[in-house]
Amino acid sequence: MVTIEEILKGGYEEKEVEIKGWLYNKRSLGSIYFILIRDGTGIIQATIKKDDVSEEVFENAEKITRESSLILKGIVREDKRAPGGYEVRAKSLEIIHLSEKFPISKKKHGIDFLLDLRHLWIRSPRQVAILRIRSEIIKACRDFMDENGFVLVDSPILTPTACEGTSTLFETDYFGKKAYLSQSGQLYAEAAMAALGKVYCFGPTFRAEKSKTRRHLTEFWMIEPEMAFVGFEENLKIQEELVTYIVKRVLEKRERELKILDRDIEPLKKVEPPFDRITYTEAIEILQKEGYNINWGDDLGAPHERFISLQHEKPVFVTKYPAKIKAFYMQPDPENENLVLCADLLAPEGYGEIIGGSERINDLKILERKIKEFNLPRENYEWYLDLRRYGSVQHSGFGMGIERVVAWICKLKHIREAIPFPRTITRIYP
Ligand code: 4AD
Ligand code: MG
Repeated sequence: MVTIEEILKGGYEEKEVEIKGWLYNKRSLGSIYFILIRDGTGIIQATIKKDDVSEEVFENAEKITRESSLILKGIVREDKRAPGGYEVRAKSLEIIHLSEKFPISKKKHGIDFLLDLRHLWIRSPRQVAILRIRSEIIKACRDFMDENGFVLVDSPILTPTACEGTSTLFETDYFGKKAYLSQSGQLYAEAAMAALGKVYCFGPTFRAEKSKTRRHLTEFWMIEPEMAFVGFEENLKIQEELVTYIVKRVLEKRERELKILDRDIEPLKKVEPPFDRITYTEAIEILQKEGYNINWGDDLGAPHERFISLQHEKPVFVTKYPAKIKAFYMQPDPENENLVLCADLLAPEGYGEIIGGSERINDLKILERKIKEFNLPRENYEWYLDLRRYGSVQHSGFGMGIERVVAWICKLKHIREAIPFPRTITRIYP
């Protein structure tokens, strides 16, 4: 058996191959059938000629329906007219399972219809391309971490505490006590940082986001590096390197998938360090000049991030937000205690935030005060305070949302296509 991807790379001309896959499409010219077969790695055309094959094989070609599973044997020929430049002249066609009438056709379907059939929709070439790029992005993240000396430390999903504010917690009963699905593995990554130096956690995270937007899921995947003896500046440098590494990898390995998506790759080629930078205060001034109704102290919303993002060809860091609108654990700016040493990285082409990160508070007294100010139940954070009692060090980290990166690199209109089975406020099926 050979994959379609391998055949399309060349080298199989005039050779006999066996392909296992599904019927994507079929048309007939009377005594000849043209079928498109997909196997997850690509799509290839096969021709089944009445004169070349047994009666049984030709009957199979007549009766095979879309999405039927099959095994086809034949000879590979170069053919400029065929999609991908190659076709297979069939010798045999075996139907493994004759599919019922497939509910998704080539015509335009409504999004709710497609999402209800997500388990079948993911077979379409566009969704396959997105999922393959997603897999490549995740592999690139892991490779970058491995090559740069980070140790993977998995953080728990069931937790007693909030990391990113109490308003988006999913609560669950834990043997009579309250537990929450993790919003972020960061606090545990900080503990691991003091054990291992450079660490990252990577897993699903959960937010009961009440807002219905193009960029919010209730379950999403996040990679969260955390580094000892690293300050605000070096933290940004690592983010630039990681994002550049990912984009380069996708350009190198997933060109075919980007083409299927009609993705213009020129903007992606511009992603190179150093990224642009503005402060939060500058962002507010720019937005006010543009007529946006926003005041210093307000959080940036999607339209604001979109405007800033569109002004830059590369990803842009927005740095030093007011302490009041960011998480409790962020290190105050030594030059202005109303600000924190944080940065959000906004992807270009209007995409907005893909990374949130900061230097962390390493002083026990300051952290105790912040926990009080944020009205967090201190007893649940004693272990986290311990990290500031036993060998506290300057440290920093960040979290990058995988689906946000997939949506940007694939240039998707909505984040729901960036994850195999999206979870949003209105959807938990299939
Ligand atoms: O900015 P956030 O909330 O930061 C944290 O969770 C930190 N604890 C990370 C850290 O420093 N270790 O989230 C980080 C990233 C965002 O930039 C975004 O890419 C993604 O996670 N994200 C979401 N993606 C999809 N749907 C949502 N509801 C998301 N919320 C955050
Ligand atoms: Mg954020």
